[in-house]
Amino acid sequence: MRKERITLEANNIRPFINQRHIDLVMPEVIDADRKIKKGTGEGASFLGWCHLGSQTSKKVVSGINDVAAEIRQRADVLLCIGIGGSYLGARAGIEFLSPIFPQEHRADEPSVYFCGNNLSADYLHDLLGSIDNGKEIYVNVISKSGTTIEPALSFRVIYDFMKKRYSGKELAKRIICTTDKKKGALKSMASKKDFRTFIIPDNVGGRFSVLAPVGLLPMASAGVDIKELLRGAAAIEADVFKGKAEKNDAYRYAVIRNLLYRSGKHIEILSGFHPSSHYLLEWWKQLFAESEGKNNKGIFPATADFTGDLHSIGQLIQDGRRNIFETFLMIGKSLNKVKIPQLKENMDGLNYLAGKDMDYVDKKAYQGTAKAHAAGGVPNMTIHIPQRSAYYLGQVYYFFEIAVALSGYLLGINPFDQPGVQAYKNNMYRLLKKKG
Ligand code: PA5
Repeated sequence: MRKERITLEANNIRPFINQRHIDLVMPEVIDADRKIKKGTGEGASFLGWCHLGSQTSKKVVSGINDVAAEIRQRADVLLCIGIGGSYLGARAGIEFLSPIFPQEHRADEPSVYFCGNNLSADYLHDLLGSIDNGKEIYVNVISKSGTTIEPALSFRVIYDFMKKRYSGKELAKRIICTTDKKKGALKSMASKKDFRTFIIPDNVGGRFSVLAPVGLLPMASAGVDIKELLRGAAAIEADVFKGKAEKNDAYRYAVIRNLLYRSGKHIEILSGFHPSSHYLLEWWKQLFAESEGKNNKGIFPATADFTGDLHSIGQLIQDGRRNIFETFLMIGKSLNKVKIPQLKENMDGLNYLAGKDMDYVDKKAYQGTAKAHAAGGVPNMTIHIPQRSAYYLGQVYYFFEIAVALSGYLLGINPFDQPGVQAYKNNMYRLLKKKG
């Protein structure tokens, strides 16, 4: 049976964009689509992510699931060390699919903690404090280059900690590296110390690697069904590669945002209405910022967690400078229901909502917001996700990846490199007096 797809609804882009604008840009879309499918655009040696959904072998999946099962059985805590594309996708997936307040630690459910995504002494100190109490630890250190300073330094500290807790084969067993198949300090260390490794394919760049072992191992360790995740991604992949460019929702999203950018809307806010989507928004922000922000071009990607942020940046969105457009990420159905109770005294005056589900109010808040923002001069569209499941999450990952690839080519930039990230590193290394 063909399962539902995530969909794009774009009624609130009118009067800013209409079908004629979209038709006019279609030749550019067809050209960009050809570049992706034939691998003839800039950065084409990094298009491997396009087929991770359909072509990740059963062997790779079962290899990941076997190690994840071992982690689930033997670890109280899995420490994932990574930054940027080697971090956000896994965190996004785990937080999107897990209960918001995890129950007290269950024997079959390790907690997943992240580090290596900052250089804060307090963060590492407190993390070590929270695991230095007899908890069984596994470590997954993730870095394609194997040389990024934030994860490398955190790993150095964590490795020192692990050596004091475990030794010999037991120590080696507990450290799993996800990295390049040949290059980098992490790869050399893994070979020398006999750590197990998972490979990040050469043709998959960091921020497009969530469906490679980078994202799959941490997610599988947290109990995510990674087969379903890949199946979801493969569904959108099939829509893109077998269907018509004009009919594709991910492309339509890319085209609309590009047209809005051309009309002076230089900031996109991706707004969620569910706390579980917070890190999914963060993952999107990194994917789009690093892919598009170059050559003095790019849409500034911002995020908002509604309804909380309606009491903060909501004011600016409604009434501030009119250089914004908005995309809502809506989850169709909550996994659970919370009915609003009837109160005899009705002192808060809320009995008119009694008997309704909280979700009902959340949806009305979304509808009211979308309408108000459009009326206030903020064109908006909505990506509807039927529910929080691994299958739909796989679709979301692929949807945004293919959209940013097309969007980058429409902008006339290479969506797969990140030359600007080097500038801060050069200065920092100079200040740290790094040799060479
Ligand atoms: O998308 C990217 O390429 C970056 O965000 C990288 O993922 C990030 O800089 C981490 O790099 P690495 O995996 O080499 O440590």
